[in-house]
Amino acid sequence: MIKVAPSLLAADMSELGNQVKIIEDAGAKYLHLDIMDGHFVPNLTFGPATVQSLRKKSNLVFDVHLMLTDPVKYIEPFVKAGADIITFHVESNSNIDKCIEKIHSFGIKAGIVFNPDTGTEPYEAYLSKVDMVLIMSVYPGFGGQKFIEDVLPKVARIREIMGNNFDIEIDGGINLKNVGEAVKAGANIIVAGSAVFGAKDPAQAIAEMTGAQS
Ligand code: DX5
Ligand code: ZN
Repeated sequence: MIKVAPSLLAADMSELGNQVKIIEDAGAKYLHLDIMDGHFVPNLTFGPATVQSLRKKSNLVFDVHLMLTDPVKYIEPFVKAGADIITFHVESNSNIDKCIEKIHSFGIKAGIVFNPDTGTEPYEAYLSKVDMVLIMSVYPGFGGQKFIEDVLPKVARIREIMGNNFDIEIDGGINLKNVGEAVKAGANIIVAGSAVFGAKDPAQAIAEMTGAQS
């Protein structure tokens, strides 16, 4: 079952509540929230207060992607703001086990994120401790970049190790043309910013991506 997680980064920031409603009405089940600190990545987005305000208006699964130098400090504020899933980068400075334990201590799902140039092999011991792996298919920081297909073997490798009952999310540059490749490699949660919020008909874009064949 393929799930599309529209990324709010591509939404009209002056209309966040309405934009979330549009994609919820369009059939999305997840909302991908990109949190950037201007340090781990060269861009800034929004914080827990924004997530908390949106939580009151939406029943979507809030998938919070922390692009922070020290994510462990911000787990609790984002849980309190309404996160259902928190993912953090293995390249960050926080201790990976501590982050996973802290996220799980609040009863929500935890995932680890890999940048395009980071190999997954050194981190395979963590796979059995997390609920999700997120493979970046662009260098994090900005929406609207070109899909890096070289990351697909990492998706395939994780799928092979973890079997079918495990969430593998892919994030960056996914559109209607390349979503099939990502699904074929083994991704089952598809982050899409520009391809959903920039679509004439977001409902159709979500439906087409959800129907992508593996
Ligand atoms: C990049 C973010 C992505 C981004 C995806 O740092 O993690 O979630 O918003 O946007 P598109 O789909 O436009 O590449
Ligand atoms: Zn993201």
